[in-house]
Amino acid sequence: MNFDAFIARCRAQWPEFADSRRLARSTHPTDRSLAHILAEIPGMATENKLRLLNCAVAALDPGEVYVEVGCYKGASIVGAATSNPSARIFACDNFSQFDGAADALRRTLDAHTAPGQVIFHDMDFRDFLAAAPWTPARIGAYFYDGGHSFADQYDGLALAIPHLADGAVVIIDDTNKRAARSANRLVARALPDFKLILNLRTPRNHSPTWWNGIQLYRYQRSPNDAAIKFPTPGFAIRKLIYDDIFLEMKHRRRARRQTKKDRRSTNP
Ligand SMILES: C[S@@+](CC[C@H](N)C(=O)[O-])C[C@H]1O[C@@H](n2cnc3c(N)ncnc32)[C@H](O)[C@@H]1O
Repeated sequence: MNFDAFIARCRAQWPEFADSRRLARSTHPTDRSLAHILAEIPGMATENKLRLLNCAVAALDPGEVYVEVGCYKGASIVGAATSNPSARIFACDNFSQFDGAADALRRTLDAHTAPGQVIFHDMDFRDFLAAAPWTPARIGAYFYDGGHSFADQYDGLALAIPHLADGAVVIIDDTNKRAARSANRLVARALPDFKLILNLRTPRNHSPTWWNGIQLYRYQRSPNDAAIKFPTPGFAIRKLIYDDIFLEMKHRRRARRQTKKDRRSTNP
């Protein structure tokens, strides 16, 4: 990843790039040519997010690929790929959320990306990262937008680390969520040179600025990284709190609300 070129592109897209408070409120990049994507492909993304991915892909070095976890109907892949037809892209989704996305994604890739440019795998991201179908290439830009439990967020980042090119950029979506930020922080703590470059929060989910928050890290390999055993200390207690207690409570609350709703509709 040509990091300087990436940052230069970002500065050209957002004149306020160096001021993260203003950047967090930015409604769109300078170049509006990706705006049509979100009009054509239903996505959980914003124009800013697509442009950020696009800038990262444009700065890939030879022998590097863009990898995306969590594609839904393909808006983010198309944003990343547009105007970068020589970039190689590997992506996965297991379609465990949101019905009907698999067919829509296939149609999107056929209509909006160069033939053969995107290698898509319908599988769980853990299997995808273990299989590493891009090998021997390395990941120069990685986008995680898959499941958002603490364990998903942690694994989605930790399992990608061995495949990252030196200097890779890692972009993680939905970082308004505490579980996501906590997982990223814990992985980053284990790596001497994994630096948080952007941490953009939004007032709510679906915000027109940066959707549900975004973090961008820069990874630089250190000699002992290969010896780090993930999950690192602190994983189990955080998983217990975020997933086994809070997420579980949220799911139960949702199920209770749904039962009440169903009862009301059968006994009006
Ligand atoms: C928020 S959506 C992705 C949005 C998409 N990047 C966009 O810009 O429109 C999250 C996606 O992650 C997928 N997902 C959730 N858990 C997954 C897992 N364990 N492995 C692979 N994909 C997963 C869901 O099926 C869903 O399509």
